[in-house]
Amino acid sequence: MVRKFVQRERARLLGELRDFLAIPSVSALPAHAADCRRAADWLAAELRRLGCPTVQLVEGRGHPVVWAESPPRSGCPTVLLYGHYDVQPPDPLDEWISPPFDPTVRDGRIYARGAADDKGQVFCLLKAYEAVRGAGAATDGGAPLNVRFIVEGEEESGGHMISDLLHAEPWRTEADAVVVADMSYFAPGIPAVYTALRGMCYAEIAVRTLRRDLHSGSYGGVAPNAIETLVRILAGLKSAEGEIQVPKLYAAVEPPTAGELKAWKRLPFDKKRFLEQEVTGKALTGLKQHSIFERVWALPTLEIHGIRGGFTGDGAKTVIPAQATAKVSLRLVPGQRFEQVAQQLTRAVAALAPRWADVEVRILHGGDPVQVDTASPAYAVLDEAFEQVTGKPAVRVRAGGSIPIVPELGLAGAPVILTGIGLPDDGLHSPNEKLDLEQLWSGIEVFSRFFELFGKKGGAR
Ligand code: BES
Ligand code: MN
Ligand code: MN
Repeated sequence: MVRKFVQRERARLLGELRDFLAIPSVSALPAHAADCRRAADWLAAELRRLGCPTVQLVEGRGHPVVWAESPPRSGCPTVLLYGHYDVQPPDPLDEWISPPFDPTVRDGRIYARGAADDKGQVFCLLKAYEAVRGAGAATDGGAPLNVRFIVEGEEESGGHMISDLLHAEPWRTEADAVVVADMSYFAPGIPAVYTALRGMCYAEIAVRTLRRDLHSGSYGGVAPNAIETLVRILAGLKSAEGEIQVPKLYAAVEPPTAGELKAWKRLPFDKKRFLEQEVTGKALTGLKQHSIFERVWALPTLEIHGIRGGFTGDGAKTVIPAQATAKVSLRLVPGQRFEQVAQQLTRAVAALAPRWADVEVRILHGGDPVQVDTASPAYAVLDEAFEQVTGKPAVRVRAGGSIPIVPELGLAGAPVILTGIGLPDDGLHSPNEKLDLEQLWSGIEVFSRFFELFGKKGGAR
């Protein structure tokens, strides 16, 4: 049935997906605020067209949250679907083979910023709903369940809209299951559900050493250089072996269980392919005494995202910079708390700051890590859907990334299912982000199967 829907409607669906992906809804850039709204409006129009009697743009200081409810069916289970319509900035632009907001199909893949993260996956949920919905009214057939959509526009930029909304109106999380489709299969042919996400502590470290930039000949040798001071502080935050030098940072880390470690060892994994095709570097770095899965899933990280200061234009300018800033973030793992790590980082930087520098740590945003128990029957229903469509139930793995709103999505006690239909090489946040169309088509089948099965069996809580 659904396979037929997908086959029949393929050209139309692709056109719609292109329209959605063409909207440059970059939440971090104020210049794209109107585009974020256009993406929200696009979704709202689509949800109305699909017969949702309740469609709302929840407004506030940031980008709107899209909320929709299917025609109510009393006595039937409710599933809440989460995704985000905002995307990361597309730069470096010159590395894109086709422009990031001119969605282009090559070799069965659609290339665009947001193709996999997360507009393509939101689209997949929408179309899965379209495939199983009745003609609109509760009595018109279709899968016997209530579907609610919550799609935010600030996931990528640390906004507060959705978290404020869910704290003010926790009823919105009342459901028999929450599905978060913002991740990928473990590998081609191996669907996944995630048992943990890392948390985050994002900060800016600002250093000032002088009142103004100076001639590097007249004062070089005596004047403190802000960039040099900053990079020494940064270097002091991590050893060459990859151990983060923030005091007590590792104390709260809960190591993975013996069961997890054993299961991770059995996962198919081609280290050479991982290094060459995904990491695209010459060697892997980090704590060698831990496996790669432990390093990306179960240990904290500290990354420097960018450094600003001094002269970076064309040509040469001989200057001693008076100020410099770095953007850094730590990924947090179960046991760690954002607030505590923010304090630990602030203290560690203060301890590394030399007396000639004014050093400030500004915490930009953060969130706690998440762990979920996948024993709830809703997971078994999704496994069955994956099995029917792809031949395999989902493997249990962890994710290295973060989705700050996940803890709040479980506020009313519903099991939160972390999954997705992307592939590991989709290139999230990178140039030439893509989604394999076969993943999208089979994903539509998976989620519509899930809706049908969940409607019949419910979460059986
Ligand atoms: N979809 C990702 C999160 C993700 C990536 C989960 C890979 C699992 C595997 C999400 O859109 C994302 O990028 N989140 C940000 C959150 C941050 C800005 C707080 C992240 O992880 O950097
Ligand atoms: Mn995402
Ligand atoms: Mn992302």
